Amino acid sequence: MDKLLIGNVAIERTAALAPMASVADRAYRYICKEQGAAYMVSEMISAKGLCYSDRKTEELCTVTDTERPYALQLFGDEPEFMARAAEKLMAYSPDIIDINMGCPVPKIAGNGSGSALMKDTEKAYSIARAVVGAVDIPVTAKIRAGWDSTSINAPEFAQALESAGIAAVTIHGRTKQQMYHDRASLDVIAAVKRAVSIPVIGNGDIKNAADAVSMYEKTGVDLVMIGRGSYGNPWIFREIACALNGTAYTPPEMTERMDVMVRQAGLAVSFKGERMAMAEARRHCSFYLRGIKGAAAYRERCSHLNSLDDVKRLAEEVLRGYEKENI
Ligand SMILES: Cc1cc2nc3c(=O)[nH]c(=O)nc-3n(C[C@H](O)[C@H](O)[C@H](O)COP(=O)(O)O)c2cc1C
Repeated sequence: MDKLLIGNVAIERTAALAPMASVADRAYRYICKEQGAAYMVSEMISAKGLCYSDRKTEELCTVTDTERPYALQLFGDEPEFMARAAEKLMAYSPDIIDINMGCPVPKIAGNGSGSALMKDTEKAYSIARAVVGAVDIPVTAKIRAGWDSTSINAPEFAQALESAGIAAVTIHGRTKQQMYHDRASLDVIAAVKRAVSIPVIGNGDIKNAADAVSMYEKTGVDLVMIGRGSYGNPWIFREIACALNGTAYTPPEMTERMDVMVRQAGLAVSFKGERMAMAEARRHCSFYLRGIKGAAAYRERCSHLNSLDDVKRLAEEVLRGYEKENI
């Protein structure tokens, strides 16, 4: 299959997994990788936290070979801190460093980081230059369409980043003000693609293979990236690869769905311990149960999951119910 190059990093031109803080953790990424995610980006990491050696931040930086090609994503608003943090990240051997210039949440954007940088191209440029100058691996940035509907500036913003030495841009086609409402604009994504000669990754609202093919066709992007569309559906990566290769896609049987749900929870337990893993598994499991007959009752059960054994029992019960329905 055709590959895309970000600097010297080769990536299959199928679909990437989006960075998602508190969702796309290592267990989630392993599962998506197994189903064909072509490229993955870490949960965002605070540059200041890293510079002050916050233990929790360091845990976010771990890179395993299974995840490659893999980017660690930094957020921050000061070029010096961002450059120092990027240097520190090199100890973890990422393939790429990505800079978050799109996060809309008040805790990040309210402090001048994330999407707030879309309002200050000069500062974004300085940060990009500082990080590019600090490391010898490709540096990329993830941006939004603009701050609000009256200030859509992603194409010019991406050009400024390209001139700072950024090796690829991911564009989520919504403004900061839109948060996650409305639809991501394919027109803005296409305009960014036309504006720069570095690779462009398109992101926003891909829920199935048809959405991915449509984004490729309508925008000309080099790669598409999927966030929420992978919730409880890591098979979306295989579905997209099949559509692009012209091969038939067979959705997973219920046994495989439950197997993967249990395995993701098990991996999370091994990476972060049962207590923290279960707090997050409650949400993940409810996604795996979407569309199943009687899902509402099963989902209620999810909020009481306290151990990996609970997850296994839930999966067995779902399978028993499913077999009864389908005899
Ligand atoms: C729970 C959650 C956490 C996110 N965390 C990050 C993050 O850490 N860094 C980032 O650049 N974007 C983050 N995003 C934005 C996603 O990467 C993506 O741009 C957005 O969800 C739109 O894509 P989608 O429609 O495919 O979900 C997050 C989104 C969600 C829903």
